[in-house]
Amino acid sequence: MACVLITGANRGLGLEFARQYAAEGDRVLATCRDPAGAADLAAIAGDVTVHALDVTDLRQISALAESLEGAPIDILVNNAGVLTSGQRTGGIDYVAWEHEFKVNTMGPIAVAQAFRPHLERGTGRRMAFISSVLASIGGNTDGGYTLYRSTKAGLNAAVKSLAVEAAAKGIIVLALHPGWVRTDMGGASAAIDPATSVRGLRRQIAAAGRQDSGRFITYEGVEIPW
Ligand SMILES: NC(=O)c1ccc[n+]([C@@H]2O[C@H](COP(=O)([O-])OP(=O)(O)OC[C@H]3O[C@@H](n4cnc5c(N)ncnc54)[C@H](OP(=O)(O)O)[C@@H]3O)[C@@H](O)[C@H]2O)c1
Repeated sequence: MACVLITGANRGLGLEFARQYAAEGDRVLATCRDPAGAADLAAIAGDVTVHALDVTDLRQISALAESLEGAPIDILVNNAGVLTSGQRTGGIDYVAWEHEFKVNTMGPIAVAQAFRPHLERGTGRRMAFISSVLASIGGNTDGGYTLYRSTKAGLNAAVKSLAVEAAAKGIIVLALHPGWVRTDMGGASAAIDPATSVRGLRRQIAAAGRQDSGRFITYEGVEIPW
């Protein structure tokens, strides 16, 4: 069975990742900002341990990586993300933009760098980054969402470099769009439920070969233009 580390596992897609991997019998290292308040996560049956992790806190990332030093990790799911409300109109809140960069761009890369040795000790060797179709510069015909688009596009650029760099160690790195999903972020009128999205994302993560590393694809495996 695989060992999977997930960020932002207390709600939304992260919680569903934890549920589905645990249901498969995998070992889940579920991380979130406030373990004491993560009741839904605590209710999951199976081999699930919960660890405090704010992905903007570089010291906390290093400390967790150190405390889990003995644990080989097969799959890293960099899921935690934020979308500041009010972006559709094009107005810019620069403080919020800086925070979004920390959560959506720098945080996932810092987590990936800290846990790369654990991945090298595992056999699965997969890093999944939950990006967004809104990161696609080629696909941007509507404008708006400046903060979110730029932070996820920045993530994609860094993910591509990581894919190239990690290839020598056989680590497969993917940027994935989960679809428009009914979570707190996606809203109640989104197109699909978290279970459908995560089933598809898990399928893409499991099926990816070395030739797929560095791709930007949807939960259904469709290529997205950068
Ligand atoms: N839903 C969609 O339609 C959609 C579409 C495209 C991409 N995505 C991406 O999919 C991922 C999951 O989104 P979601 O829909 O599940 O969103 P969500 O329901 O809003 O959940 C976001 C998760 O990220 C966590 N998080 C936020 N800031 C964090 C930080 N500094 N450190 C650690 N965790 C933090 C949240 O934890 P707290 O509870 O502590 O805030 C929560 O667990 C995100 O990367 C998002 O950008 C979602």
